[in-house]
Amino acid sequence: MPKIPSGHPDALGPITQGPAASSSPSAADPAPRKPKSSRPARRPASAPSDRPPGEPWVRPVVASTATPSQRFTFDLKPREIARHLDRFVIGQTEAKKVLGVALCDHFQHVRMTQEGMEAPFYQKQNVLLLGPTGVGKTHLIRSAAELIGVPFVKADATKFSETGYVGGDVDDLVRDLVRRAGGSVQRAEHGIIYLDEVDKLATRGDGAGRDVSGRGVQTNLLKLMEDGDVPVVSPNDMNAQIQNAMSAMRGNASAQPETINTRHILFIVSGAFAGLDQRIRSRMLGEAAAAGSADSRGALSRISRLDPDALLAEAVTADFIQYGLEPEFVGRLPVRVACHGLDEDDLFNVLRRSESSLVRQYERAFAAYGIEAVFTDGGLRSLARMAGRENTGARGLMTVCERVFRDLKFALPSARVRRFEVTGELVADPRAALRRLLKAGR
Ligand SMILES: Nc1ncnc2c1ncn2[C@@H]1O[C@H](COP(=O)(O)OP(=O)(O)OP(=O)(O)O)[C@@H](O)[C@H]1O
Ligand SMILES: [Mg+2]
Repeated sequence: MPKIPSGHPDALGPITQGPAASSSPSAADPAPRKPKSSRPARRPASAPSDRPPGEPWVRPVVASTATPSQRFTFDLKPREIARHLDRFVIGQTEAKKVLGVALCDHFQHVRMTQEGMEAPFYQKQNVLLLGPTGVGKTHLIRSAAELIGVPFVKADATKFSETGYVGGDVDDLVRDLVRRAGGSVQRAEHGIIYLDEVDKLATRGDGAGRDVSGRGVQTNLLKLMEDGDVPVVSPNDMNAQIQNAMSAMRGNASAQPETINTRHILFIVSGAFAGLDQRIRSRMLGEAAAAGSADSRGALSRISRLDPDALLAEAVTADFIQYGLEPEFVGRLPVRVACHGLDEDDLFNVLRRSESSLVRQYERAFAAYGIEAVFTDGGLRSLARMAGRENTGARGLMTVCERVFRDLKFALPSARVRRFEVTGELVADPRAALRRLLKAGR
């Protein structure tokens, strides 16, 4: 089984090799991630005059301002990113493809810029991910950021207010990146900012009411999403301001820039956009009826039968604007992809195949007391079926597991049981299974 990269937020080494862990069907043929150091050294940036003709979009600059230690290295291809994501995230094939391309485009651009090849008219490909709760939106971005090795900040859009006096200020997101980058402004300047729950910023949505503050936050984000400068020290942070002034008076001004430029920071936003599917259906029905073609009745009935996943995949800019996002905000999110809901089979695979599976967490929890928990396929299938009924995507797995294993986790550490199997029977009635185990272990 391939190893999860150390440092991955979900890295929990397999403790026991139960059937679930050992018989994994090649975990979506994951190519073990090459350690960065073993990659072939990238060829040095070609001198401006070496470049072949026919690349007019590249404006050579005389020298890169980044020192070698600060220079960003990136040599991944979209398929490599998608394959890495396969190890942790089940399904979401389209999202993996779209993210792979968007991330490669962006970070190849950053690398080339740092190597002295500027693209003055480059337009950032910020990403909008939509889809129901618990289907892997955050998981995808977190796993990709870990692979690329760039600083990554995640926040909920709802915590920001227009003025910054209540909640937080959107500029804080950028400053957070510096913290994540170990204090390096240069590293922070090519990080990823992930903003969840952007649908809650909608201002005119029928259900959402008129939220003026949401519009203000969208407006504040506009500049950052394109090319803005954010002071490294927050103007609201009096303590830091005083320390900075004192340091400057003592002549200790650091070599760090005073502002963080957001030109190369990639923004990825996501939201569940509840109700958007029905709006899309209405729009499509209206368009089909207006077209009045010979088979418009067939088209109408086909549209009426589309499920929410298929409808979200048809979202266009006008749908988001009608939902209540500002046109300028949606316009700065040119890459859009819908994540699909997870059915029972997906949830089974989340448990059985994903390297970040909850199964590892439970194996580990029992292994801490010297107990081997062996998950059978029947057990995993029952857990997946129960989680599917929760309607919260893979989050339902945690809810179900917590309920199923509660008594076992309480009683087994003090008992003599050294091994037990998680079967469909145990999942259906954990208390009866516990009684049997305790009786047999006596
Ligand atoms: N497709 C998936 N494959 C593997 N694990 C998943 C998948 N989807 C969700 N999970 C698991 O469920 C947890 C929650 O998923 P995640 O945070 O990505 O949900 P989300 O789509 O961002 O939901 P929300 O809209 O509520 O923020 C993850 O930590 C991961 O363990
Ligand atoms: Mg999320």
